[in-house]
Amino acid sequence: MEPSQVAVIGSGLIGRSWAMVFAAGGFKVKLYDVAQQQLTSALENIRKQMKELEESKSLKGALSTEQQLALISTCTDLKAAVEGATFIQECIPENLELKRKIFGQLDLIADDNVILSSSTSCLLPSKLFTGLKHVKQCIVSHPVNPPYFVPLVEIVPHPETDPSTTERTYALMKQIGQSPVKLNREIEGFVLNRLQYAVISEAWRLVGDGVISPTDLDLVMSDGLGMRYAFIGPLETMHLNAEGISNYCERYREGMKLVLNTFGPVPEFSGEIEEKINQAISEKIPVVPEVLGARRNWRDECLTSLAKMKKQMKSD
Ligand code: NAI
Repeated sequence: MEPSQVAVIGSGLIGRSWAMVFAAGGFKVKLYDVAQQQLTSALENIRKQMKELEESKSLKGALSTEQQLALISTCTDLKAAVEGATFIQECIPENLELKRKIFGQLDLIADDNVILSSSTSCLLPSKLFTGLKHVKQCIVSHPVNPPYFVPLVEIVPHPETDPSTTERTYALMKQIGQSPVKLNREIEGFVLNRLQYAVISEAWRLVGDGVISPTDLDLVMSDGLGMRYAFIGPLETMHLNAEGISNYCERYREGMKLVLNTFGPVPEFSGEIEEKINQAISEKIPVVPEVLGARRNWRDECLTSLAKMKKQMKSD
């Protein structure tokens, strides 16, 4: 049987990673971009990454590197790219005008069955999809960078998205080994970035107020909270840190409210505090392409090992 086909629109950082995820799931992938050079470098990069993953026995899916590579083809013609696709994942730059333009083009050529999905990190579905003829088939599938190593996908419907679009997207994400979560309605920042920004802003205030150094602040997460959050979420943490949620609330509700009431206003993320944090973090990791690249590679290796470990320890 012919494998099902998907189209990935935009072959940058995220588009490449999606292409790898879909190929690992056995899907035929048409990778589309306006820049031929981007497509060429995307294919080279995907090949290199897959070889390295194969060598470290971390390649996802049941197919070999060559079989997965054979599933991916590139194209600079939008109509040809989406022809025969049952799912289209848009990954072009985070710019509302650009995205509305591409979804307008896709709307004209889409049939009544294909799902039109966006990787946007923060543009609301109502901004992206309102007015499209195929709005019922539109959805946001927000990945976490890099999607090949971090499986979470936030699925965010437009108010007019058909529930079957949400269900099919959810099922597809499961099928390709990602970890989808459904938002019942759109909200600024979706859920992941709302949580992330809550952490970043308190980190910024604590360093800005001189409570802790920037590098120690990061350690609180990487050697503290983060260790458990790789396995259990904040709500289960409450449950396990007492005799269940209600007992946790009984014990800690007043203390939590006391601390939360001392939180400061939204930081400006500029000026002296920015300089201080930038200096400290850049001292550890200089802003030089090779250094940043090496650190990202190391992060990806860590995430690959963690993913393997999580698979072994899976208990739900
Ligand atoms: P990128 O800049 O690396 O790649 C964008 C690609 O789109 C480039 O290859 C560019 O040539 C291509 N492109 C530009 N206009 C186009 C058009 N009209 N048609 C087709 N291709 C076009 O961007 P990146 O980082 O891959 O981000 C893509 C999307 O994914 C954005 O919406 C971003 O918010 C989202 N995202 C990014 C994450 C990240 O950490 N980088 C994480 C989660 C989501």
